Amino acid sequence: MNQSALNGIKACVFDAYGTLFDVHSAVAQHTHRMANASIVSMLWRTKQLEYTWLRTLMGRYVDFWQVTGDALDFALDTHGISDSQLRADLMQAYLGLSCYLEVPEVLNELKSKDIRCAILSNGSPDMLSAAVNHAGLEAYFDAVLSVDGIRIYKPDPRVYQQAVDALGVDASEIAFHSSNAWDAAGADAFGFRVIWVNRFDQKAERLGTSVAAEIKDLSSLTGLIFS
Ligand code: 2OP
Repeated sequence: MNQSALNGIKACVFDAYGTLFDVHSAVAQHTHRMANASIVSMLWRTKQLEYTWLRTLMGRYVDFWQVTGDALDFALDTHGISDSQLRADLMQAYLGLSCYLEVPEVLNELKSKDIRCAILSNGSPDMLSAAVNHAGLEAYFDAVLSVDGIRIYKPDPRVYQQAVDALGVDASEIAFHSSNAWDAAGADAFGFRVIWVNRFDQKAERLGTSVAAEIKDLSSLTGLIFS
């Protein structure tokens, strides 16, 4: 990685689901109540994202809580699971997803070095405040930004513009972090300096975009930014 790629960063913006929070920790709390739990969880996540892209393209926005419930219904139906209590429990678990182990320490170090931090997420405001508060991360963020204010989903550039407007810094002065390669591509296309948090050892997308750095998890972030 070209070290100058991260010089002059004035703010760190983080994707939420998949990057700070483990989307599969909802099903993981209830694996004993269904067969093929990990497959159900993967289908739930895949369908959740598909619905955000399709609804944006169709101009049929509903918030991420509705999308997440619709995607769960698809996944449960696909696997022949009809259990209203399980559905309710899985949705409730989505409000308290586990944050990845390294997240609190990394955010604390960024704050100690006066780096402004924000979340920029598809999540609805209520979902994000629930997840942030459950993980005890509320003190680390200057802003928690949801797409709900503009009623379109990532990777539309108008979503990323929200971070520039909220933080009052240029896109080129923002380091954007996402484990979702398609989100990283959208952020690069918009003009952020992008750090791809490749938690799942995936191959690079073929979208004509690039990243300033690729890391396995956020534990190596401060070494990148402050070295
Ligand atoms: C988020 O916006 C992409 O779902 C992910 O938090």
